[in-house]
Amino acid sequence: MAKFLVLNGPNLNLLGEREPGLYGDTSLGEIELELAQEARSLGHTVDARQSNAEHQMVDWLHAARSENFEFMLLNPAAFTHTSVALRDAVSVCGIPFIEIHLSNIYAREPFRKTSYFSDLAVGVVSGLGAQGYLLALKAADKLLGQTRAGPSGH
Ligand code: DQA
Repeated sequence: MAKFLVLNGPNLNLLGEREPGLYGDTSLGEIELELAQEARSLGHTVDARQSNAEHQMVDWLHAARSENFEFMLLNPAAFTHTSVALRDAVSVCGIPFIEIHLSNIYAREPFRKTSYFSDLAVGVVSGLGAQGYLLALKAADKLLGQTRAGPSGH
């Protein structure tokens, strides 16, 4: 069993209402519920948080160092393209993570092509909508299973 931190950045509280053509019509509450259900069926737990404030996300990441999270699903939202502070906090907390974007950040405005997180991430899911979170959870479950089985494990 692993404890997952799911961290979503600014404006993602408005999912479902916000530019549905880009971000879909699933609310963040629905995504978090689906994640919790899938996590439970895989034997894991999820702690899902969202903030519009950079300092709150930084503080959560600092606290996460002593909260025994094994993996993180992170959508830094607009901070993806701007926040060295959040990058540094992700780096210092040391939790392996998958970076998630509902939209394909490489098919949008040029400024969205830069991520301060991708080179730190285990992997990136971008452009698959809400299901990206579930796919990331399933991938993390497999990766954690492999880690536990050791280098020669299957
Ligand atoms: C986003 C992409 C970002 O560029 C944007 O600022 C967001 C959401 C996504 O999930 O597609 O707020 O991270």
